[in-house]
Amino acid sequence: MEVNKLKIVFATETGNSEDLANRTAEAAESKGFTVEVSNVEDVTLDDLQGESALVFIGSTMGEGEPPESAWSFHDAISEAEGTPLSSLNIAVVALGDTSYGDLFCAFGKKVEKELLRLGAKKIIDRIDCDVDFEGKYAGWAKQLFATITPA
Ligand SMILES: Cc1cc2nc3c(=O)[nH]c(=O)nc-3n(C[C@H](O)[C@H](O)[C@H](O)COP(=O)(O)O)c2cc1C
Repeated sequence: MEVNKLKIVFATETGNSEDLANRTAEAAESKGFTVEVSNVEDVTLDDLQGESALVFIGSTMGEGEPPESAWSFHDAISEAEGTPLSSLNIAVVALGDTSYGDLFCAFGKKVEKELLRLGAKKIIDRIDCDVDFEGKYAGWAKQLFATITPA
């Protein structure tokens, strides 16, 4: 799949998702992609309507909740209707902690579910990462860059 521009959005509380977003951006730039990294607090549904490829990297906080910075995005995607994101292709990395049981990676799962409901398509499958996320992230990044190429 050819990608003109890769939009990378992170939703973080303690920095892990932001680190992975920046690392993904560096890897993408070195492969020739045009990249834009954004904090989820600065991203609206309208912004996403203008994008064709989105990497979303976000953690879960509280009891299965979004990071504080992501509530507005959470509400916007939960409340929207129709298929405004039918031109968007997505790849989601959910960070969490398996000790939260049924609430493991709840926010990342919710984001993917809502974006798909709004018409987005998956580039590759979501990964749900426990606290030691390095190995899983490396495999995901490899698969991502085997699937997309710079336009
Ligand atoms: C106060 C607090 C609440 C958390 N709640 C959850 C949760 O409900 N589900 C989950 O899977 N992980 C939970 N986690 C784990 C974080 O999602 C995990 O540490 C993640 O790597 C943090 O990423 P971030 O630095 O990008 O915010 C929680 C962590 C903290 C500190």
